[in-house]
Amino acid sequence: MKITAIYGSPRRQGNTSRLLQSAVAGARSAGAEVTEIVLRDLKLQPCLEIYACRKDGRCAIKDDFQVLAETLLAAEATILASPMFFYAVSAHVKALMDRCQSLWVKKYWLDEKPLGRLDNAKPGLFLAVGATTGKRLFDGAEMSVRYFFDTFDTALWKTLGYRGLDGADDILKHPEYLEEARQAGVDMVKMV
Ligand SMILES: Cc1cc2nc3c(=O)[nH]c(=O)nc-3n(C[C@H](O)[C@H](O)[C@H](O)COP(=O)(O)O)c2cc1C
Repeated sequence: MKITAIYGSPRRQGNTSRLLQSAVAGARSAGAEVTEIVLRDLKLQPCLEIYACRKDGRCAIKDDFQVLAETLLAAEATILASPMFFYAVSAHVKALMDRCQSLWVKKYWLDEKPLGRLDNAKPGLFLAVGATTGKRLFDGAEMSVRYFFDTFDTALWKTLGYRGLDGADDILKHPEYLEEARQAGVDMVKMV
């Protein structure tokens, strides 16, 4: 089973990256083959909204997106990890999301799939962290992730959102969060 794991924080070793490392370890222990994508290391421009993708569903900007899109489409499950930045995903993740408009165009305009179903078979897991503790901290980001996942036929299966974490090592005070993420990685593989 192929899984894509997307590291969305600019911090290499922070709260979301540690959570994702845990989920990846769980998925691998259950037999998955995991491709790890570290967005901060990639060349990924924001969408230019020129709609060159109307022709064949391919984005015209030449950078790391082309290979990444193939990886997203080929995976049988996806795990995305992002910190909350102004109640949204990080800019690294948002750039990837917007570039996936080309996949949306392919799916809904060129291939004419019916809109609004979100009944995808491939599971997606969203790991999120924020410093504050508000009830609705992850609501906006979760909505974005749901529709981002749909562009590569993935359904948001579970969101694990952790509040009150700010310093890069804060997550280490909560081994139970890391264990929950590891178990979600295991469960995801078992589901597929
Ligand atoms: C640009 C920026 C914006 C942030 N905005 C929020 C926010 O809106 N809500 C919140 O709870 N935390 C916010 N934070 C705090 C981060 O979400 C928090 O430090 C998180 O633990 C970082 O995760 P990481 O270690 O995986 O990078 C912000 C941090 C930065 C740098």
